[in-house]
Amino acid sequence: MQDDKIFELRSKSCSLDFVLRAGKFLFTHFGKTCSSAGDLAALMPDRHDGITSLRRPLQATYPAYGDIDFFEPNHPSRTMEAYGALGVVHADGVASTVLVAVDSAITEDAPGVRHLVLKMRDENYGFFVTQHFRTYDDCDVFETWIELTNDEAGAVAINKMDSFALEMNLMGRNATVFNLRGTWGAEAHISETTLAQSQTISLGSRSGIHGAWYNNPAFMVAYGNDSTETYGRVFGGALAWSGAWQASITRTSADALLIHSGVDNCSGPYILDSGKSITLPRFIFTYSDEGRGQISRNFHKWARLHCMPRGKELRPILLNSWEGAYFNFSEKTLTDMMDGVRDFGGEMFVIDDGWFGLGEFARNDDHRGLGDWVWNTDKLPHGPKYLADEAAKRGIRLGLWFEPEMANTNSELVKKHPDWVLSEPTRPLRKGRGTTQVVLDMCNPDVRDKIFRQIDELLTAVPGITYIKWDANSEIMNPGSPYLPKDRQCNLWFDYTSGYLELADRLAKKHPDVMFQACASGGGHAEFGSLSTYADEFWGSDDTDAHMRVFIQWGEMLFYPANSVACHVTASPNHQTRREIPLKYRFDVAMSGRLGFELHPGNMDAQDIPYVKECVETYKRIRPIVQQGDLYRLASPYDGDYASLMYVNEDKSKAVLFVYGIARGIYANYIPPIRLQGLDASRRYLIKELGVRNEHTHANTHSSSIGADALATVGLPVWIAAGYDSAVFELTAE
Ligand code: DGJ
Repeated sequence: MQDDKIFELRSKSCSLDFVLRAGKFLFTHFGKTCSSAGDLAALMPDRHDGITSLRRPLQATYPAYGDIDFFEPNHPSRTMEAYGALGVVHADGVASTVLVAVDSAITEDAPGVRHLVLKMRDENYGFFVTQHFRTYDDCDVFETWIELTNDEAGAVAINKMDSFALEMNLMGRNATVFNLRGTWGAEAHISETTLAQSQTISLGSRSGIHGAWYNNPAFMVAYGNDSTETYGRVFGGALAWSGAWQASITRTSADALLIHSGVDNCSGPYILDSGKSITLPRFIFTYSDEGRGQISRNFHKWARLHCMPRGKELRPILLNSWEGAYFNFSEKTLTDMMDGVRDFGGEMFVIDDGWFGLGEFARNDDHRGLGDWVWNTDKLPHGPKYLADEAAKRGIRLGLWFEPEMANTNSELVKKHPDWVLSEPTRPLRKGRGTTQVVLDMCNPDVRDKIFRQIDELLTAVPGITYIKWDANSEIMNPGSPYLPKDRQCNLWFDYTSGYLELADRLAKKHPDVMFQACASGGGHAEFGSLSTYADEFWGSDDTDAHMRVFIQWGEMLFYPANSVACHVTASPNHQTRREIPLKYRFDVAMSGRLGFELHPGNMDAQDIPYVKECVETYKRIRPIVQQGDLYRLASPYDGDYASLMYVNEDKSKAVLFVYGIARGIYANYIPPIRLQGLDASRRYLIKELGVRNEHTHANTHSSSIGADALATVGLPVWIAAGYDSAVFELTAE
């Protein structure tokens, strides 16, 4: 159209295209970059043709409830609800919002980082929306976020405040959603749902804390055609939020694809006072027409380069005390464990739950002590500095566990400040773990300050503590904030999570040399909210059974990079499943992410120790490839009785291949040769099997040099005999 103003935001090979038409910001395209942004706008239907009621007009970049299609005001097939990312009841009671464009600007935040800002306001009210889009030269990921400002005479009630809403042509007849479902001990299992016309799939979590457990806030949608790891048009999206969230994916009757995602206020509107603004969480999205594998690589690259605090750094090999000692330890137990991890060649020791609380509140079980972040000098008389020094003497670093958002009713903190606990005045206090665990009111700045001071003082006094495991073992069970006014109680869900992230961010900024792990009863914080704010990694799951971990890690690494997924070798039989799994398999599985240990080294069989040392040494060599390389999924554990994945480094000079037997019998299905991906087709690679035990090799190509084209075309024959047999190969370009 003549008066169109066209905008385009280009990433490495994709673009997001907009048009400003008749005072509205509209989307015209998301996908592969085309040579002319004007062509994209020209190809969009701009109005309904009056006959085929299914033809789509363009979608506003931030559709609001009540702002029906302005080209077709009387068109019956456009329902208001379907297009509302924003639902506001204004100060005077009017419940619709009609946004008009005010201004726009594209700036360069840094070299190679472009940022588009679209400013809108309600045509009748002092209600403002600022929509941000940011992208990068070096990857194909876009970030978007929204700021809402209320300049009306009174408070407004926001019923819906999505971060993202996109409507696209389906480009065919398929829309299949891939998302992660789970619970404690079984996180990140993949669900695959194909949508029929007029169907919507809703994802979400109202845990408030374990936001990534039941569903993960990241998902993929294959559309147009079917997809595989290497083929098909795929959208990837993830809400960077650690609390209650929702997403919906709709295939409309007109074969459009609608994708919405944002926070969930659960039971009522968010009340935004006059003169106040709120910034909604970032939604991260990406596109590939080369299948789901590329979507994962896009997310991983973005996470390492632009999201995680130290994404480009290699993570230390650590031993965590939990499964090796639980609450039952003395200083000697801890220094023995330090000896063990030092002897293995590890680099850090983390004291998990149980080091704090005094007297009747000493944390020797899970009934007491949370909230009292004071050293338990009865149990560990020489204090934290002594243990940090002991670690340093052994050439390793020290880490410490906290559960900052939580308290037990049996604690000094709750005795003094019962009003700091999430609770409702007319209902009995529901208590969780240990029958006494409650959640602190993170909406209350005094609570956050107190927790900040306690942790900060400890870290400042003992600079030898350079890692914090930040745990959270409850959901929001009592949805009431004693701090928030009675007509603002529904703000709890958003304000709680903002409070959590603010506190964590403040601590991380004050202690830039401290690494953080986000944990929420296992993988409840496997999400980009924590990773983009303060966390270097997350705990993948409390289920450390290597068989289960093949699936859990497979799912988590659909979106989150290997250096963010903590994977620990634990004892056999496994403490969660009682399953017995050979040490080699346990290592081979944990080595495909951030390797660590969670056992008492003193309980290990002495004849295994040389093998453990060899594995640690091997991992140190392959660590840059695993933790910084590109992931290629070769055979899914969901498809058969084996699984395989590989990592390739940036210049394709090195690769590591993992193969795992899954519940195989010796005469089970033949494993086809494993066709490798991501290598440089013009080069030859030296293949070396790693971690061979008892001279049992898995391929007759050990020490052979093979061309990448043959490895991709014919594949590497790998003999995996049985269920818990596994193999790892290192490939080095000649
Ligand atoms: C739950 C975590 O997921 C475990 O790893 C461990 O830290 C326990 N909490 C300690 O209470």
